[in-house]
Amino acid sequence: MMETDLYEIDIVKAEKSKIQDVDFENINFGRVFTDHMFTCDFVDGKWQQPKIMPYQVMTIDPSARVFHYGQAVFEGMKAYKDDNGEVFLFRPEDNHSRINKSAARLAIPEFPKAYFMNGLTTLLNLDKDWVKPGVGNSLYIRPFVIATDSAIAAAPSSNYRFMIICSPAKAYYTGTVRVLIAEKYSRSADGGVGFAKAAGNYAAQFYPTSLAQKSGFQQIIWTDANSHEYLEEAGTMNIFFRINNTLITAPTSDRILDGITRKSVIQLAKDNNIDIEVRRISVSEIKEAAHNGSLKEIFGTGTAAVISPVSAFEHAGETFEIPNLDDSFASLFKKQLLEIQHNLLEDKHNWRYSVK
Ligand code: COI
Repeated sequence: MMETDLYEIDIVKAEKSKIQDVDFENINFGRVFTDHMFTCDFVDGKWQQPKIMPYQVMTIDPSARVFHYGQAVFEGMKAYKDDNGEVFLFRPEDNHSRINKSAARLAIPEFPKAYFMNGLTTLLNLDKDWVKPGVGNSLYIRPFVIATDSAIAAAPSSNYRFMIICSPAKAYYTGTVRVLIAEKYSRSADGGVGFAKAAGNYAAQFYPTSLAQKSGFQQIIWTDANSHEYLEEAGTMNIFFRINNTLITAPTSDRILDGITRKSVIQLAKDNNIDIEVRRISVSEIKEAAHNGSLKEIFGTGTAAVISPVSAFEHAGETFEIPNLDDSFASLFKKQLLEIQHNLLEDKHNWRYSVK
């Protein structure tokens, strides 16, 4: 088989769409999936013929390495539909390069860009009725790779499965988010996998986050593992702080996810002539700013979360409420981002990718 033959995806269409059973107005994030899924196996040292088939349960050997060692990486991206029915992705090439960076760190083979882009666009063309128009509606897309070797020796797999599944989505967090600043647990460490969208990064947060949730917080803002003094990210979101009129966010590193929404917001800040500082920011700096009234906003950014304002944070038993601002940066960036994504605003930086 020629390399180029592989771009031709084997397609088996669903006999009947499930779409009429879905209540799009009342959808819980990530619970409902579209009619089709994309899969491509890595066997004998190469990616095989990609396939699109009806969304279905699959059979995997219980010894598959993904179950034992968490050798798995994923991406989060969204498709949007404008009022003329055209479907767009947002910076999809960045998701492709990021999944390959994550994959390399987890000793997973890189997935070719042509397969990724062709897989996405073919799948979206089949399932385009699932992308609802209107700001606030989107189709969440989850590309991921799992290690499928039937072998429980602790070593990288020789076989993998790359997949794309899609789920209609509304807001991930409704309303504002209360956050707890980490003092004991850590999300990532120097030289670790914090920058990667590795499945295990998320599993490791579930227990501390569930403790925080019992105390009324939706999320934890993770701090550096050494001193717990510097603010890093919120696990499902990167995090921004506004002190007076300056926006501050931590630099990416091997501990922090290089968020696509994060870097879009940094660009939008520049476009709007807002002072933006990408630098380390300490817990004591924001506590002092909260005390003296100069801390105006905290918000998180992420594909699923879009832009989520933080209404309060707690650290060392002290709680700080953050008053709602009418002219917040969070609402300005959210509006501009959603309008760019939905083809309602000029796309100065070529972020929109039309799915044809
Ligand atoms: C995303 O924003 O796409 C994420 O990956 C967060 C996810 C864990 C819901």
